Amino acid sequence: MRILFLTSAHVSDLARGPGRIVAKRTLGDLPGPRGLPFLGNIHQLDLTKLHLILERWAAQYGPVYLFRKGSARAVVLSDPKWCDQVLRARPETFTRFSGIATVFSEMGADGVFSAEGDAWRPQRRLAMLALAQRHLRGLYPKLQTVTTRLKKRWERLADAGAPLDVVEELKRFTVDVTTLITFGHDVNTVEQGNDVIQRKLALVLPAANRRLFALLPTWRLVRLPRDRRLDRALAEVRAWLGELVVAERTRLAAEPGRAEQPSNFLEAMLSARDDEGRPFSDDVIFGNLMTMLLAGEDTTAYTLGWAVHQMCDSPESVMELRREADELLGTSDVAGDIETANKLAWAGAVANETMRLRPVAPILFLESKVETVVGDLLVPEETRLAVLTRPAACDPNHFVEPQAFRPRRWLGEHAGAHDVSAHIPFGSGPRICPGRVLALLEMKLLFSMLYRNFDVERVGGAEGVRENFAFAMVPVGLKVRLHRRSSARADTATA
Ligand code: HEM
Repeated sequence: MRILFLTSAHVSDLARGPGRIVAKRTLGDLPGPRGLPFLGNIHQLDLTKLHLILERWAAQYGPVYLFRKGSARAVVLSDPKWCDQVLRARPETFTRFSGIATVFSEMGADGVFSAEGDAWRPQRRLAMLALAQRHLRGLYPKLQTVTTRLKKRWERLADAGAPLDVVEELKRFTVDVTTLITFGHDVNTVEQGNDVIQRKLALVLPAANRRLFALLPTWRLVRLPRDRRLDRALAEVRAWLGELVVAERTRLAAEPGRAEQPSNFLEAMLSARDDEGRPFSDDVIFGNLMTMLLAGEDTTAYTLGWAVHQMCDSPESVMELRREADELLGTSDVAGDIETANKLAWAGAVANETMRLRPVAPILFLESKVETVVGDLLVPEETRLAVLTRPAACDPNHFVEPQAFRPRRWLGEHAGAHDVSAHIPFGSGPRICPGRVLALLEMKLLFSMLYRNFDVERVGGAEGVRENFAFAMVPVGLKVRLHRRSSARADTATA
């Protein structure tokens, strides 16, 4: 083993300590899958299964290893301490993988998720304010309206008896909630037909994923039919967002007082001024609106979808969720106020347990901005890193019987390991997901409404549902039939 001594002048704040910094390993010392000359491991990387491949290699080569894509090397981390160290050392020492900003910017989706450094800070502040708990309290009645609409839609679909693409259904819910909370606009896709905005958004993340991992940027040279389809979809989303921006600018001009206390993210973005009194550019505004739509829609809908899938094999959890909803909701079909929603502990436990086993962000792609040391590893400037979020959460040292779907463990009932620091479905550090409180609220509302009012039957067995990686981890093949609840509700049983 070599020992490298570096003076603190060479290394970022992260590794700076008293005296000299000790890195015992370099990238060349790391284990990893054998690759081909020039190509590296490209031939082993099936993009739609990328998370499964990187997780399998983590099981084989350990919590820090290296793979190659052509001449580019990427370090893969799954030790929770190392992951935490890297995620917290942002934005100074690590950034998101730089390809993300390029690809998202080409799609007009360069916002708070892809921005870095000084450009990121003011955008992050506005996102945090817009998604803060106290802000959500005032908007709760709108969430309740969306949930009630969805219940009515599902009653109609249950009566029709047809199998449902439940993830598409859930996207209607999450798009409606996201646009209400962040743009103050009621798009109401729950009550619309099939030509909804989600159809266009659905093309964006898979395309971003393909482009991020492409060996050559072919889409810049020639527009294939799929690129043209994406261009059309992006143009339509932008035109729709443009109408919202014009309407909001008109409202702000008519009521300038609103700029002092913006009531949503869109108002806040349009009203913000930097130290020299300049507003955000249109590119930044549109990039952020698109970012919010994408970040708020897919992640929550896929997590809800994974939960529905897991619950199909956990009748005990369905019973407990139902008991809790019957107890807390009184005679309502949907939680009547935010206090009631926040009390839904079983629903919260189901959300956490689902995210532990099925994190929709299984890989976070980063890059080092300066030479630094992580753990005992010397990481050169511009090294790509992939942080895996699932291996630590499924390690018996952190969670007892880790492969079992057991929401009770989140209610204090765990005879054995329960290390919450190994559970990072929302990331960690300064860039932790600002939408996590909203996401948990949505999940509690949805679970309590769904299981209080319906029986859910999966069409086909668990083996028919696959994890597909398209920047987020998508449940593919999940179809359900809804039936109006057959067992008596507590309120009607005693009536
Ligand atoms: C279950 C639902 C969700 C999951 C699992 C999730 C997960 C994540 C993760 C893993 C990150 C990256 C964190 C990091 O780099 O450390 C992130 C970032 C982000 N999320 Fe979420 N998210 C969810 C819902 C939402 C919602 C509902 C919104 C807003 C409406 C949202 C907005 C954002 C934004 C704006 C960022 C970028 C933050 C930044 O880079 O500073 N997310 N999310």
